[in-house]
Amino acid sequence: MDLTLRIWRQASAESKGQFVDYQVQNISADASFLEMLDILNESLVMKGEEPVAFDHDCREGICGACSLYINGRPHGPDRGITTCQMHMRNFKDGETIVIEPWRAKPFPVIKDLMVDRTAFDEIIQAGGFITVRTGGTLPDANALPIPRAAAEDAMDAASCIGCGACVAACKNASAMLFVAAKVSQFALLPQGRPEARERVQNMVAKMDELGFGNCTNTYACEAECPKEISVSHIARMNREFFGAKLSAPLKKE
Ligand code: SF4
Ligand code: FES
Repeated sequence: MDLTLRIWRQASAESKGQFVDYQVQNISADASFLEMLDILNESLVMKGEEPVAFDHDCREGICGACSLYINGRPHGPDRGITTCQMHMRNFKDGETIVIEPWRAKPFPVIKDLMVDRTAFDEIIQAGGFITVRTGGTLPDANALPIPRAAAEDAMDAASCIGCGACVAACKNASAMLFVAAKVSQFALLPQGRPEARERVQNMVAKMDELGFGNCTNTYACEAECPKEISVSHIARMNREFFGAKLSAPLKKE
């Protein structure tokens, strides 16, 4: 395939960005989207030009780094996969592909297509963990019976890779699906219950503080999530939050 790539170029967080058109030729339909960008970058380096900066790590759909807006959709036109798993067979010969970074205030652009997702790390630090004793005798993992349905739901929630597509897809830049997945994965399991009330209140407070918007039930997050995390987790998070507020509100410092 021969393609035109309309790519957002931005030298730094402070500078203004703009779209720049590039041509790539003889791209195999079996190449992944990131391999296609590698081919472009190789040609730019050969010409002595600055390669396009983009995030990637595992290239197998598990790290959540490859955050790209492709033709107006987070992770491109295919459903339920990340950018790194998408292949060029999703595009047509001669097509113009528009490639942008995530567009959300809490995810500022670092360079070109790379954004800073430290905000997600801060939300996790606010409560996305359980406190355990790591010394002494550890309980057997199977000693605590967990209903099958709860284990399955918790596993589904835990499959969130923190990519940020839910935020990028949302007109309000809401992080509710991400936070709900992280709250649910613990709320459903006995190991997560002791700190559940503090966890949900702290994570929601941090989400608000960092400037993420509210959920207005458009379901765009679920539609674009590469792990197909269900919005039912948002309903669970809301129940957890209201229950915690009523029974054990956090003390103001
Ligand atoms: S909920 Fe889905 S879209 Fe949002 S960060 Fe997790 S994996 Fe990505
Ligand atoms: S590079 Fe890790 S999920 Fe795409």
